[in-house]
Amino acid sequence: CGIVGLVGKKEVKINDIIDGLKKLEYRGYDSAGIAFSQNSHIELIKATGKISNLKEALKEEINTYVDIGIAHTRWATHGGVTNLNAHPHTDCTGKIALVHNGIIENFQELRKELKEKGHTFKSETDTEVIAHLIEEYYDGNLFQAVLRAIKRLDGAYAIGVMQTDEKKIVSVRKGSPLVVAYSEDFALLASDITPIIKYTKDVYFMNDNEIAVLNPGNIEFFDINGEKIEKKSTHIDWDEQAAEKGGYDHFMLKEMNEQPEALKAAITGRIKNGKSILSEINNLKEFITEKLRKIFVVACGTSYHAGLTFKYFMNRYSKIGVDIEVASEFRYMNPHVDENTLVLAISQSGETIDTLEGIRIAKEKGAKVITISNVFGSTIPRESHGAIYMNTGPEIGVAATKTYTAQIAILYALGAKIIELTQGSNDEIRDILKGIEEMPEVYKKVLKLNERIKELAREYVKFQHMMYIGRGFGYPTALEGALKLKEISYIHAAGYQAGELKHGPIALLDEQFPVFAIIPKDSLYEKMKSNLMESKARNANIIAITTENNNEISQLTDEYICVPQVHEALYPLAMAPVIQLFAYNVAILRKLDPDKPRNLAKSVTVE
Ligand code: G6P
Repeated sequence: CGIVGLVGKKEVKINDIIDGLKKLEYRGYDSAGIAFSQNSHIELIKATGKISNLKEALKEEINTYVDIGIAHTRWATHGGVTNLNAHPHTDCTGKIALVHNGIIENFQELRKELKEKGHTFKSETDTEVIAHLIEEYYDGNLFQAVLRAIKRLDGAYAIGVMQTDEKKIVSVRKGSPLVVAYSEDFALLASDITPIIKYTKDVYFMNDNEIAVLNPGNIEFFDINGEKIEKKSTHIDWDEQAAEKGGYDHFMLKEMNEQPEALKAAITGRIKNGKSILSEINNLKEFITEKLRKIFVVACGTSYHAGLTFKYFMNRYSKIGVDIEVASEFRYMNPHVDENTLVLAISQSGETIDTLEGIRIAKEKGAKVITISNVFGSTIPRESHGAIYMNTGPEIGVAATKTYTAQIAILYALGAKIIELTQGSNDEIRDILKGIEEMPEVYKKVLKLNERIKELAREYVKFQHMMYIGRGFGYPTALEGALKLKEISYIHAAGYQAGELKHGPIALLDEQFPVFAIIPKDSLYEKMKSNLMESKARNANIIAITTENNNEISQLTDEYICVPQVHEALYPLAMAPVIQLFAYNVAILRKLDPDKPRNLAKSVTVE
């Protein structure tokens, strides 16, 4: 979910609140709502569906001015997608309104207690209990009431609360992201900086149990005991343009096409002339001690696939073993990590709750944690011992694209540094890093293949299934190809190690079940060829991505795409835009919105 709140020095145009909310739509978009206060009266407007529906519901009111307003875009957790369950939620008097991102774990007990005290509930949400709790404690001072109420809450929250008689918003965070700032005209709160940078580039990242009181001209900060605290602002360099669509039909298309620049930005100051620099972790040596026995990667979704690519890289070149687990499993598996383990968390958003809990467990067990993230000041890097930011600019499309390739490049730079510190320098690694420096040029060529990829999409859009296969470095690419296709086109797709076909998946293949093969001209090429022949023998249609000048590929496949020749370890980077563009084009042909796939959210801050 995403929350915003504005307190005007004089007044606030409702449209400005909605504009801010729109920037957060990628955080969830099954319903949205706004509460605003004018002349001591709260008005509440909600709509299911995207924020455009809320805009319609507001009609002409969108251009009116109010004192303060809070708004919310929802990704349902407790309670279905209905107007009543959409935020903001109010108390019985209708004088207190609140937006919340997170989950209140003890809401059922609180709801029971409050009902017994005579409160009536309008929704099924966990959030509504907070509004009633604040009402229970309110005696003319919203700040004091919030302070008392949050002491009763278990779980995660970032909230913004208003009360009709007070021209302020009280905001507090525990476990869910929250940023506040003020400009000449407003004090603002938001789930991240995207709604704020239009007004100011100096922001305050809230920590757990810190409270911000947004007044017409300033913001005051307090700790959980109500004591005033000083907070330092952080200056952000992103401009607003960086977060807009830049002329493309979709954010996803824009972000795929940004990969030459995004990758360049990601390696700037990290790789130079085949050498890994990584200056931001200048104390890296503290992490890479002689006692270091294992690297454990923790991540979800696409970030997990970047991590798996890193595992193949390290297994080949490093003496230190790499283990990897998806964060939702890691956190419950009693992972074998200790003070001799380096945990690498990979999270584009820096907020994925499973990954966050994973690193908390790793830290408790004594491990050192380094995070790779794209969102400056987000929770996971802040809770880590070291952080490397991807510097790719915001990624709005729900399906990760440019952050995936940036992750792989940074992971390789980090891996190369670890190898250098533990084993000394190595010519092959230098070649790989040089290859990464050349990758922006390779991307320019690969992105030009889009017309050909569109043709393939037209032919394959009719199928209900797709099996992606690969070996070695090609295997994580197969998994990512399948994930991309299923998440935005809703076609069933699965990725397999090609050698596993014979142990089950091959039974699925026939003329209705095509294969998408990741088959670069690498050391496992001949093995992959056999797998293509096995698939062909089952009448499966075959698409392949291979290396330029592969003269026999036309005999092995029905369709193919060629990328320039690169080092074997770099095909996951070179081939990524092809699998991304294929999924994108299939989604467009199916008339789906690739930026906002159903049931998915960009930042998953619930378990
Ligand atoms: C969600 C997104 C995916 C992303 C995953 C992990 O499921 O839809 O695109 O890969 O979360 O997110 P993270 O921010 O931790 O990389």
